[in-house]
Parts: sequence; C-alpha cells; structure tokens
Amino acid sequence: MTLDFLGNLQRTHTCGELRMEQAGHDVVLMGWVNRRRDHGNLIFLDLRDRTGITQVVFDHEVSPTAHAKAEATRSEYVVAVKGTLRKRDAGLENPNMPTGQVELVARELLVLNESKTPPFSPAEEAIGNEEMRLKYRYIDLRRTEMQHNFLVRHKVAQAIRTSLSNEGFLEIETPFMTRSTPEGARDYLVPSRVHPGNFYALPQSPQIFKQILMISGFDRYFQVARCFRDEDLRADRQPEFTQIDLEMTFPTQDQVFGVVERFLAAAFSAASEPIAAPFPRMTYDEAIRKYGIDKPDMRLPAMADLSALLPAELRTTLKIEQGLPVLGFVIPSVGELSGSARKALLSEVRAQFGDSGLDLLDTVRLRTSADFLPLAEAITTALNAELTAFNGNTISAEDLVVVVTPKLGTPEMWNFDRQWIWKRVGQLRLDLAKKYADKHKLFEKKGTAEDYRFLWVTDFPMYEWNEETKTWDAAHHPFTSPHEDDITSGRLVTDKGAVRALAYDVVLNGTELGSGSIRIHRQDVQAEIFRSLGMSDEEAKSRFGFFLDALEYGTPPHGGIALGLDRIVMILAGATSLREVIAFPKTAKAIDLMVDAPSEPTPQQMRELHLRTVVRN
Ligand code: AMO
Repeated sequence: MTLDFLGNLQRTHTCGELRMEQAGHDVVLMGWVNRRRDHGNLIFLDLRDRTGITQVVFDHEVSPTAHAKAEATRSEYVVAVKGTLRKRDAGLENPNMPTGQVELVARELLVLNESKTPPFSPAEEAIGNEEMRLKYRYIDLRRTEMQHNFLVRHKVAQAIRTSLSNEGFLEIETPFMTRSTPEGARDYLVPSRVHPGNFYALPQSPQIFKQILMISGFDRYFQVARCFRDEDLRADRQPEFTQIDLEMTFPTQDQVFGVVERFLAAAFSAASEPIAAPFPRMTYDEAIRKYGIDKPDMRLPAMADLSALLPAELRTTLKIEQGLPVLGFVIPSVGELSGSARKALLSEVRAQFGDSGLDLLDTVRLRTSADFLPLAEAITTALNAELTAFNGNTISAEDLVVVVTPKLGTPEMWNFDRQWIWKRVGQLRLDLAKKYADKHKLFEKKGTAEDYRFLWVTDFPMYEWNEETKTWDAAHHPFTSPHEDDITSGRLVTDKGAVRALAYDVVLNGTELGSGSIRIHRQDVQAEIFRSLGMSDEEAKSRFGFFLDALEYGTPPHGGIALGLDRIVMILAGATSLREVIAFPKTAKAIDLMVDAPSEPTPQQMRELHLRTVVRN
C-alpha cells in the first residue's frame, strides 16, 4: 500500500487521555493499531500509544476513503487519525478502559507505516515464549505491562535522585574503563589497543572511586551507577545492572539508614505504594537464629528453637541427636491438609532431606499417644508464641506446623558450619511457603504498608570461611571496617570467625535490596585487613597501591551503601525476574538475543588489539 506522509499534521492528544469532557472536539491521534475489528460498514481500530488506547470508528457513510484505508490496515501499523470525539452509545461503553466512554469518529486516516505480522501481538497480556520476547524486544516493550514497568522505573529513579539531591548528595560519574574492583564476581575485561596485552576491567561497583571522592572532600556522593559482573545469573541477577550507590563522610550507621529510608519512602510513594519507616533492625546472628537466612522474609512468622522442650531421655526415645537444635515453624493459612496430603508432604520433605541427617517430627501423630501429648502441646505453645507475635493469631487447622529434628549421628557438614541446620530449616520454611503461596494467596498484596516488609540486617561477620580454597574471604568487601573492639582486641588475627563487621543489608520481603558498610579509613588497618585475607603486601600494593596511597593523605571516616535499582523496580512491578524491568536484558547465559551479543570480533579488530583467540574446551 502507498504510505502517507505526516506533513504538518500535529497530534492534539495522546491515546490515553480522551474523556467525556472532550466529546464534540476535533482531535488528531497517532499511534499503533492494537486491534482491528471489521463490521462491514463500520471498522473499529483500537489505537495505542504509551499512555493507553482509544477506540476509533471508521464509518463508510462518514468517509468512504478513510474507511477503505482502514480496511487495509493491520495490527501494528502506524497511523494518524483525524476526526471528532463522541460519547459512545448507551450500552457500548467499556468500563475497563479509561477512555471507554468515548470514541473517535474518523474523517481522515494516514497510514504512516506498515508492519509485518508480528511474531506475537503486543495486545496479548501474557506471552509464554521468553526467547521470542527477547529477540523481538522492540515489540515486547510495546506491551502495556512493559510500558508500565518502565514508567515505574523512571518515577522511582527520579524520586530517589530528588531525595538524595535535597539531602546534599552530589551526583558524580565514575569510570567504566578501570581496574578490577573486588566485589566477589569475575570481571568483564576490555583489551587496550594502545597498550598491547593490557586490559581495562569494567567496574563491579564504583566502590573504590566513591571512597576516593570522600577522601577528596565531596562529603556526600551518589550515582545511579551501572555495574558489570561476570557471575552465574539468576532471576535477580544480571551481568549489567544498576545501583543506587552512595557514600557519606563522617556518618553514623543510623545516618546511612535514615538517608536510605527517606529515599525508599519517596520512591515507593512515587509508585503509589505506602511503606512504613523506620525499618526494623536485626543482627545477622539473630536473622540466622530466627529465619535461617541473612535476608529474612518478614511476611512469615519466625522459626522457634524447640530444643529445650526435648530433654535427653525424650531425645533418646525419639532417636534425636543430643545437643543439636530442634527447630519449628508455622506457615499460616495454607489450608487444612487431609491425612494423605500430610503424609505425602512428610515423605516429600524427607526425600529432600536425603542423608543430611534431618528428619520431620510428625506432630499430629505425637498427639495420638498419651506419652507424647505433653510434648505436642508444649510445641504448639512455643510456636503459638511466634505466630501471635507475628499476626496476633493462634495456630488453627489451616496452618502448617513443621518441626525438624537432627537424627542420631552428626553429618559431616555440621562440623564446619554449625549454622547449617538453621539455614537448612530456614530454606525449608521458604520452600514450603512458596509451595502453598499461590493457591492460598500467602503473599497477595493488601494495598497497605504490610505488603512491603523492610528490614535492616546488621553486624555481619567480617570473614567467610571458604571451604574450597581453605581461606578466609571478606564477607562483604575488603574495605569494610570491623567493629573497633575487634581491631583493638587482636581478634582480626586470633579469631577471624568471631570478628563482626560494621556492615549492613537492607532487605525487602526476603530479597537483598542493598548492602553497605562503614569503611576502613586508616591505612594501617586497611593493610592489616588485606594481610588477614591472605594477600601479601606486594599483592596488595600491585592491586590497590593507589588506594593505600590515597588513604595516607587525610582520609575522613566514611561509609555508604548501594541498592539494586533493578530489584527495587522488580518488586514494585510485581515481577519475578529482573528481565521484566531492564529494557535490554541478557538471558541466563548472558546473551542479548536481540543484538546477538556477545559476538566474534573481526580479524582486523583482533589484529589491532594484538589478540589471538585460542578456544579451549
Ligand atoms: P553488593 O555487591 O552487595 O555491594 O551490591 C549491592 C546491591 O546491588 C545489587 N546487585 C545486583 N543486582 C542485579 N544483578 C546483579 N548481578 C547484582 N549484584 C548486586 C543488589 C545488591 O544488594 N560496593 C558495594 C556497596 C557498598 O558497600 O556501598 C556493593 O556493590 O541489590
């Protein structure tokens, strides 16, 4: 078909804004054909743009030319329509559309561009094939849901910028082409043409630069910073992602928390979601003991330590290991389980436990024996306390009660990680909640601040034992300050496992949103920490010499945090993958299916970079 030119025609309105007030007005709309319905003399085009959809009517009687052109249009054609807005006839209104009271009666239609039949229609709500969506991302992004997600993303970023700017933070950019930054992932490297054999590393975070900005006296810095990490990808991890990164001079931990709580409140309110601040706080040890994880999902009650209810004789009778914890928890409102459903669940969980040495206590069966009834009742009382603290209720037949016991004999893994049992039971708590979540709407939004359960987790361990390499690694990163008394007491050397860091995470509904710490500002302490991580002075000098030097020129105490912007938006959008909130994301194999990256360089590029590829399998 011959295409029309736009000429001087200007659009007067967007497709989402027309209401009854404009009825009778002449308007010009432009957009994509979302759907087309042909009723002979009447053709309806739903015209779509970012703001919404307006129904356009082509009546053969009004304009045979426009009608004929409308007949030839198809989905995703780009058109301009001139006409008069009118109230829809009684009974033909669409209460589900904001523009559903009106329709545009077209007098003129310009077909500005055609479209091949798209591989899927943006008018569909859910598209199953994600590979297809990523390959044809430009079409996928036309979908209302995706347009909404990026509107939320924009508003959130904007609100955070304003909040931080109002509190005196300066937005400063730091380099993409730099040296390796130690955040625990692999680096993406960029070969240098002018320095054969040398590579830049893309930053895993702006960590060192923001600390240097504090040394330079900027006092308060922030950046909506792109970070690059070559690591195993999951639903909440992408190789490139965006941090809200900030750093402050002379801060207390409370001041950092306040800044974050205020910008998150602003961000959530920009997305019309209320949240409650200040956020509750919990130490890392408490999080492990109560939730078995360093990012507790506070939308479920905590675990209870039931060990004291099982004295030695009872443990012997029930074949439970002495001295190890017995942990229980309640998942509320999963619905009453039939006898056979309960049995199936028991054996499913036991199968998952495998030979880990864990078992489930069948509390329902305990009740049938006079000997064990008192134990069953004591367990209920203890778990009731957790449930009541959580939501004011006591256990009913609708709630799932789970008690995990260690069997006789201590499996290997408990020897080097005594927290293992808490962590494993914590994982079971989350798995079971997930299993029943959808059916019983456990995590359904209520439209209140309760939907967003934020939490600060503090006092992380400074070091993590790496069983593979048999070394101590930095649990956060090596610039994190230990508690002052861990420095003065010498524990850094004598008892690394007990050293606590001034490190904190902000957690939302079981997702780690952000991590930060008060930093080391003394050169001697920084050098000592590098040493304690098994780094020789020579290695520290070659990797971080510039930074150790900088620390010697009047470094103020400083600290900060970085939050994953993508994760914030993912939760706000109700999405389960970061790919829903990143415009051009990568697959789990780090491929951009649309542009087909990574790809082979040309031989000339390789020559210029002084590189040769040797592919090893
Ligand atoms: P950390 O490495 O914990 O800390 O990162 C901070 C936050 O960034 C987000 N994040 C990611 N989001 C998507 N994909 C990824 N691959 C990914 N990796 C991390 C998470 C995480 O909580 N420099 C320190 C911060 C500091 O100490 O100030 C840092 O980068 O939401």
